Amino acid sequence: MAQSNDSLWGGRFASGPNDALAALSRSTHFDFRLAPYDLRGTSAHIKALHKAGYLSSSELAVLEGAIAQLLEKVLAGSFGPLPQEEDVHAALERGLIEIAGSDIAGKIRACRSRNDQIATLIRTFLLDAASELEKQLHSYLAALVAQATKHRGVAMPGRTHFQHAQPVLLSHHLLAHAWPMVRNLERLENWRERANLSPYGSGALAGNTLGLDANLVAKELGFAGVTQNSMDATASRDVVAEFSFIATMIAVDLSRFAEEIIAWSTFEFGYVTLDDAFSTGSSIMPQKKNPDIAELARGKAGRLIGNHTGLLATLKGLPLSYNRDLQEDKEPVFDSVDNLLLVLPAFSGMVATLSFNTELLESLAPMGYSLATDVAEWLVKQGVPFRDAHEITGELVKFCEQHDLQLQEPTDAQLAAISNHLTPEVREVIDVQIAISARSTAGGTSLSEVDKQLGTLNKLLAGEK
Ligand code: ARG
Repeated sequence: MAQSNDSLWGGRFASGPNDALAALSRSTHFDFRLAPYDLRGTSAHIKALHKAGYLSSSELAVLEGAIAQLLEKVLAGSFGPLPQEEDVHAALERGLIEIAGSDIAGKIRACRSRNDQIATLIRTFLLDAASELEKQLHSYLAALVAQATKHRGVAMPGRTHFQHAQPVLLSHHLLAHAWPMVRNLERLENWRERANLSPYGSGALAGNTLGLDANLVAKELGFAGVTQNSMDATASRDVVAEFSFIATMIAVDLSRFAEEIIAWSTFEFGYVTLDDAFSTGSSIMPQKKNPDIAELARGKAGRLIGNHTGLLATLKGLPLSYNRDLQEDKEPVFDSVDNLLLVLPAFSGMVATLSFNTELLESLAPMGYSLATDVAEWLVKQGVPFRDAHEITGELVKFCEQHDLQLQEPTDAQLAAISNHLTPEVREVIDVQIAISARSTAGGTSLSEVDKQLGTLNKLLAGEK
């Protein structure tokens, strides 16, 4: 059965859309959340219409009142889309007509298309979402910095291939998770420059004939300027895709720390204890305390990757300019924003309340012959070519493994038997704190270098550059 057509485009059709088409076409279930943004756009638009001479001052005032009233209803939840309405634009036009009458509200649609409208709305929505994400990323960074500050000087095993490699400071490890988020913040800031242009006035694709002042609309909406090409502005979604990438990168970065926290909280590792408020129990095993936040963060990363991949696939091969396929940009990016904004506060809380078993971390730091590189580099300082130093140290490790000894434990005679370069002085470098403080080159794990990181991050959190 076909429904009657009181939509935004009924004129040239003898009948209304078939129900199946209407159901497929409808986007109100996800795009109505853009209603406040759409009303802001309309509010700017009517100012431009007034300036161009298509609305009198009194009509402008009526419409401004109507928009304010409708916005209130939308925010209160007392105005929503009707089942037969295709999208947020149709619903809001009806809402304004209900308040201001069709003679006045019927003038609003002049000079704009849903194509430039939606291209604008998604930008305004994402610019706000970026600010929310930035706040959450700051809280996460603050949690990492607080933990790193609290545990200044504590050593732990540093790993490569998940095997003991070289000792590092716990703060160094924690801050290694901070810098990717700093880069994500920089990405958002940089993305903002591209997102901050208004497609409004591009019309359906070619611009408009009524002389609408696109700069006025852009200014009203808080954009820095107007897009340069109306076809590009209505057809491209790289601004959405780029945002989606940043969101996905944030999720992927969180998933890496999540994985470590999951391992660290096991009985075998015992590095950390999760706070009760940030862990969950089991319905059958009374002893369990599960790292669900970390696991959900890890799981959500997969979901965001899916959203991002799907969005890129939607964009691939689309000819200029607007195609209805572009409607598919919203659900994935909304979902990514919503899920990140769920994950981030929980994740930050979990990190802020982690309690570290520092004694255990310190005692494990030299295990697994993690100071062998220090022995090899000590030999280099004695003039031994690194190739030989590596070989000699390898022999020392083999000897220790065979005799169940730590690197510093062989006697002077045993050392000398391995190599006459291994004099008793070598023991001085087989020490975790010495090994750590020796790594004082830029970005190294020495306390002095870690303190520099803390200084930079604290400035960033305080809003200084
Ligand atoms: N719902 C559409 C979208 O999200 C709005 C633009 C519709 N334009 C059109 N020509 N049907 O992209």
